[in-house]
Formats: sequence, structure tokens, C-alpha cells
Amino acid sequence: MSTEPFLPYCRHVVEDDDIDAVTKVLKSDALTQGPAVAKFEADLAQVTGASHAVVCSSGTAALHLVALALDLKPGDAVLVPAQTFAATANCIRYVGADVLFTDVCPQTGLMRPQDLEAALRTHRGRRIRAVFPVHINGQAADMAGLAAIAKQANLAVVEDACHALGTVINDEGPVGNCRHSVMTVFSFHPAKTIAMGEGGAITTNDPALQAKLTRLRTHGITRAPQDFVARAEAFDANGEPNPWYYEMLDLGFNYRACDMQCALGSSQLAKLPRFSAARRKIVAAYETALAPLAPKVCPVERRPGQFAVWHLAAVLIDFEGLGKDRATVMRQLRSLGIGTQVNYIPVHWQPYYTSLAGGHPPSLPGAELYYRRCLSLPLFATMTEVDVTRVVTGLQQVLGL
Ligand SMILES: Cc1ncc(COP(=O)(O)O)c(C=O)c1O
Repeated sequence: MSTEPFLPYCRHVVEDDDIDAVTKVLKSDALTQGPAVAKFEADLAQVTGASHAVVCSSGTAALHLVALALDLKPGDAVLVPAQTFAATANCIRYVGADVLFTDVCPQTGLMRPQDLEAALRTHRGRRIRAVFPVHINGQAADMAGLAAIAKQANLAVVEDACHALGTVINDEGPVGNCRHSVMTVFSFHPAKTIAMGEGGAITTNDPALQAKLTRLRTHGITRAPQDFVARAEAFDANGEPNPWYYEMLDLGFNYRACDMQCALGSSQLAKLPRFSAARRKIVAAYETALAPLAPKVCPVERRPGQFAVWHLAAVLIDFEGLGKDRATVMRQLRSLGIGTQVNYIPVHWQPYYTSLAGGHPPSLPGAELYYRRCLSLPLFATMTEVDVTRVVTGLQQVLGL
């Protein structure tokens, strides 16, 4: 057993001024639906370059709101990469639509244009309404390539950027600006680059979608007089809206984020440049330290033309070639005080989805090969280069390299 401090595979960084920001809200009159919510939305819109941001209670809630806003229904289908967290697919099931899994690049874990084309061919005849590419590990997918195909097939594009806050594509700008998509989804779970406890958001350039998402986040209720339908109930004899009046236009949810979450979010978002630089520095140190272990151990392949803010320090390990099994490697690393994780088990292999597929999940060799080799090493903004050396030395020892 190691006597050194445990290095988790991810960790939030909350500082005194973050705590002060939350405390200030706790001492104020508005714990929820107060000014911190609009402030966080304005801050996120500014950071991503989108016209609007709608904050909500989690990335999963954000994905559900997206599925509702797109009006996805039973009989519709959505293309989702098999290499992602379950929530990207689950939100489509929440509204009764079908998930069709696409393959991914075995070296990056990202959906590629050829994966999208192959899935469209395989599922010809299905009512495919949308595609949800995922910027896995913090590295952006080829959005221009994917969007061009999606346009031809008349699909709405939604980016799952839960891993990719801060990532910037050269000549195109920050992930979240929705240059190639109708909406982009973020998560602010503590594992991510900034933490809100739980929290998520959607960015969009479409004011109608912003209004719909905002309404769906709070029961489908509007208080905007221009939206009122039942006019005799809504307005008094002078044409003024009745002071108590609101209308429920859609079947929505309570997916609001409270002011404490949003105050923490704004405080953390202001630190994004520092957190991004720190994460990138640690990932660069991993690249240098891991170079002698290639090709048995390699960081996931880098896509050119972007400034990636890494959410995970994902490496691909040839466990089979090394004659090692991943479970033993993870347990031995843990005994050295090094936490690791596997992100992710391909979603089409989850029993819920295999049973939907009648026990015959599709064969998606890229996602399967990626999964067999991936391991996420510790990465968080307060890690040091000494920690990186410790992780890589531990890995070498455990793998016998
Ligand atoms: C790719 C991806 N999508 C969606 C989510 C869901 O986000 P949340 O945990 O905030 O609900 C996550 C969270 O891990 C994720 O990694």
C-alpha cells in the first residue's frame, strides 16, 4: 500500500472565493430563480460565443430538455456514438424515440464522418431525426464533416460537449458556439473542468429554442404575456395581463439549477483559462513521460487543428499484447495510490440496450477496440508534474515495461 496521497482519476478544484460566492447567495433573499441564474447563463454564453445559454440541474437534464425541444417522438430515431456515457443515449429513450448507435474511431473514441455515413446506410428507411456527436475526453469531433453529412440527410445536430468546455477549434471558435449544431450540451458535474455540484446547460443561437428550453426546464410554464393562449383568462378588461397569471404550454419538468449552483458555476467559469492551462500542462507532461512506452501505451490520438481542454487523460494500452488484464492493472495501480477509470463501456453493450436489440447488439468494432484498450489516468487542475511521474512510473511497474 502506498503512503503517498491518493491520486483520483478526476477531482474538482473548489477554492475560498468559490465558497464565498456560494455563501453570499445563502445570505441573500433568493436561493433559487434569483440573479445568479441569469448571470451564469450570460457568463456561459460569453465563454462559448453562443447567443444563449440555458442552465439546468445536470447534463442529463440538459440532454432530456434537448430531446423535448426537438420534439422527438416514438417512431423517430437518433444516431449516437457507442463510445459515450449512457446519458447521451438515455435522453432519447426518455421521449420514446429509438437510439441507433454509430461506430467511432478506435484511436480517438470520436464519431467520424465515415461512421455517420455508415450508420445512415445501415439504417436506411428509419425516421432518423438527429445526430448527437460527443466530444469525448475533451477533444472535438470533426464537426464540419459531420454537419455536412447531417445537412444532406436533414438531421438536427446536437453536440454533447459535457467533456469539452473550453475546447476551441481553429478558425471556428469555442465548442458551444453552435456553428455546426442547433444546440450544445454541457455538464458541470465535479468530474468535469468546472464544478457546480450537479449542473448542466444548453447553448444555442436560436431564440425560439432558448425560450422553449427555458419553459421546459420549469414545468412548461410561461409568464410571458405574448405567449398566452387562453386570452380571456390571461388578460383583464384593460388588456393588462392578470397579475397571478401563467400558462403551462408544454409538459415540462423541474430541471432548474438553484442560485447556489449558479454562483459556484460563475465563480468556477472565471477560472476556466487557469484550469484549462493546468489540465493541458498535465496532459503534455503525460505525453512526454509516456513516449518511451509507445506503442504498447499511447495517449489517445490527437486530432489536429484544435486547442483541446482535456477532461480525461485517456490512454490506450495493448493489454492483450502485454499479457496483462485491465482489472489487475487497475487494482495494482490503486494499491500504489493511483486511481484510474474506464470511460466507457460501449453503451450498445449495456443490458438495457442489448435487450432492446433482442439480445443482438450491433457490431461496432471501433468502439469495441477503443473500449478494450482505454484507461483514464489521473487528471485534475491541481495535479503536479511530480504526480505525473508517479503515475507513469507506477504504470510502467504494473505493466512490466
Ligand atoms: C458525455 C457525457 N454526456 C452526458 C453526461 C451527463 O452529465 P451529468 O452527469 O451532469 O448528468 C456526462 C456525465 O458524465 C457525460 O460524460
